[in-house]
Parts: sequence; structure tokens; C-alpha cells
Amino acid sequence: MTHQVRAVVARGKGAPVSLETIIVPDPGPGEALVKVEACGVCHTDLHYREGGINDDFPFLLGHEAAGVVESVGEGVTDVAPGDFVILNWRAVCGQCRACLRGRPWYCFDTHNAKQKMTLLDGTELSPALGIGAFAEKTLVAAGQCTKVDRAASAAVAGLLGCGVMAGIGAAINTGNVGRGDTVAVIGCGGVGASAVVGSSLAGAAKIIAVDIDDHKLATAKKLGATHTVNSKDTDAVEAIRELTGGFGADVVIEAVGRPETYKQAFYARDLAGTVVLVGVPTPEMKLELPLLDVFGRGGTLKSSWYGDCLPSRDFPMLIDLYLQGRLDLDAFVTETIALNDVEKAFERMHGGDVLRSVVVL
Ligand SMILES: NC(=O)c1ccc[n+]([C@@H]2O[C@H](COP(=O)([O-])OP(=O)(O)OC[C@H]3O[C@@H](n4cnc5c(N)ncnc54)[C@H](O)[C@@H]3O)[C@@H](O)[C@H]2O)c1
Ligand SMILES: [Zn+2]
Ligand SMILES: [Zn+2]
Repeated sequence: MTHQVRAVVARGKGAPVSLETIIVPDPGPGEALVKVEACGVCHTDLHYREGGINDDFPFLLGHEAAGVVESVGEGVTDVAPGDFVILNWRAVCGQCRACLRGRPWYCFDTHNAKQKMTLLDGTELSPALGIGAFAEKTLVAAGQCTKVDRAASAAVAGLLGCGVMAGIGAAINTGNVGRGDTVAVIGCGGVGASAVVGSSLAGAAKIIAVDIDDHKLATAKKLGATHTVNSKDTDAVEAIRELTGGFGADVVIEAVGRPETYKQAFYARDLAGTVVLVGVPTPEMKLELPLLDVFGRGGTLKSSWYGDCLPSRDFPMLIDLYLQGRLDLDAFVTETIALNDVEKAFERMHGGDVLRSVVVL
């Protein structure tokens, strides 16, 4: 059997997205069909529609989602119809060299559904990050479904599926932020603001939020930033050094994905400090740094894939913190929108006042 549902499709580079009817197959072995309840709009969706990730148009966008499992295919035992789940885009395989060495958050062979969702004419769709959840239903690998407490709303739970997890994990898992550390976060959109929250959860002593937009800085402050720097009119590196006794921060998290902000992160950290790149660059971007500075400043330069999270470990834990009132996820939902408002949400992304627009179905 197949299902015809409405979904947001990006047909070509830079073209506005369209609402279309797509065909979703019933789940095969190892797959799950999910009735999507909510899906946040992440900057990565915009990267896809601008051709910044790859050229596999048409894309089925949306990847920050929560919903209910409708049916599962053969051999699926971890989730069952009726389960409330957050979709993840890194379902670990358990068998690759990273998994076998006990580092499954680096899994090099993460799973997606094997069957394709298509347009009505049979054209195969490429689901963004193997999810494609700006749709009434989507087909994923069962391992992409992580069961969490139904008491959280879908709009809030879905956020953990990408941006919020990426940001919190960039601080806690990748950056190893600990009690008493000084942290700077460059770029305070959904991901960067989450890195602020993660740093705060981890007990950082000083959290410096940097952005070129005052709205974002005001929100970062509400979420736990101790200091803010508008780098439109101030030198970010100098400002961060000044706020850290002239030395730089222990951990600097880059959540924009551009060479110039990466350089700021590189020079704004203390000697032997850590840079975490969680922002995603586009293919034409190049970084030039004096190799002597790379050596002489020491420390650690890391990238953070999905906050180096393990969905099965981290999603239920963060939902529990949310339900206990210890993690303000509601603050990330700036607006809830309808499926056909995704294009407008992309436009508003540049406006500055939106942390997350969340499609609620
Ligand atoms: N590594 C991962 O696993 C992962 C996961 C999700 C998103 N991302 C990436 O993280 C980045 C941020 O995503 P988002 O959803 O928060 O985007 P967003 O558009 O909500 O936020 C970007 C922020 O950067 C700020 N900014 C832009 N240029 C700046 C500059 N020169 N200096 C300082 N701040 C600047 C903007 O004002 C905005 O607040 C994107 O590149 C996205 O693709 C990575
Ligand atoms: Zn995302
Ligand atoms: Zn693996």
C-alpha cells in the first residue's frame, strides 16, 4: 500500500518551495511510517533549497520533527505503532568501525529508509537529512525514531531532532564544556542559542553570546548568556578577550558556518582552548590561517556533527529536563505555522526575530 500526503518540496536551486502531493510507501523491513505532528524550520533546510548541500533535487525538506509511529515494517522491535517519537538523522548502525570502537556518535554508516518517497509522476525525492518531515507522513529507518515522553508537545520535542540537540551537544558533548569554563558562542540563531543553553546546563562560569542581531542577543541573554557582543560594530575577538581577562574563552562555538566567523572563533579562544564548528559551510568556502598560529595556539579544533549526540541517550534525557522545568525549550518556538508557510519562514529567518518557526500539522 502507499499513502498520498501533502509535503513541502524544493524542486530547484533557489526556487521557492511548493506544497505538493507525494507518495509514501508502506514501511518495508527495518522501516517506520511516521505521522508527523510538528517540524521546525532549520537553516539547513534553506541550505538544501539553495543547492548548498548537494544537487539531488527535488528535495523533501524538513528534518526537525516529532510525531507518532503509524506502522512499522518487518523486524522492527524498538518502536511500535502509537509511540510518540522524535526523528533523528543519525540512526547509528552498530557495526561500522566507529560503532565497534565504542564511539557510535561518530557512526560512519547511519541508516535511512531504503524505499523512496516520490512525486505523483514517480520522480524520486531526496529527503533532507534522510527525514523529509514537512509532510503529513514520512518514511524513515526505524532507528531514526526515538521514543520520548508524550507529555511534551510535538512542537517542542521536535526541536531536539536537529538544531537544539546540535547546539546543546556542541557545548556538552563536543566542546566538553564543564563547570567554571568560559565559553563564547558566535551566531545565536536556533543552534547557537542552544549552545548557550548547553553551556549553562554544564555549569560554565561565563557565557559570551556574539551575533550581529540585537534580537538574537537579547534572547541569548534570557537563555543564560552572561555577556553579549554585537559584532556588527565591535571586534568580536577583542571583545571576547576583554571579557576573559585578556586571554580568550576556554571553548568557542562557531554556529554560523562561515570562514570569517571561524577565524574569530580561532583567535577568540585561550591558548590550548577548544574551537567547535557546528555551523555548516557551503562548498565554495575556504579557510586560510597561518599554520604557525594553528601550532602555536595549541588546543583542539573540532567539528560537531549533530552535537555528537546519541539520540537514544540524549533525547529522552533532555525531554525529562524540559518536563522538570530545567530546560526552557518553549523559548525556542517563536511561532507555529502551517505547512504552506515554510517559504515565508525562510524569509523571516533573515529578519532576526525568529529563533524557530515550527510547522504544526
Ligand atoms: N552541525 C550540525 O549538526 C548542525 C545542525 C543544525 C544546523 N547546523 C548549522 O548551524 C548553523 C546555524 O543554524 P541556525 O538554524 O541556528 O541558523 P539561524 O539562521 O537561525 O542562525 C544563524 C545566526 O547567525 C547570525 N550571524 C550571521 N552572520 C553572522 C556573523 N557574521 N557574525 C555573527 N553572527 C552572525 C545570525 O544573525 C543568526 O542569529 C547553520 O549553518 C546550520 O546549517 C549544523
Ligand atoms: Zn537542522
Ligand atoms: Zn556505525
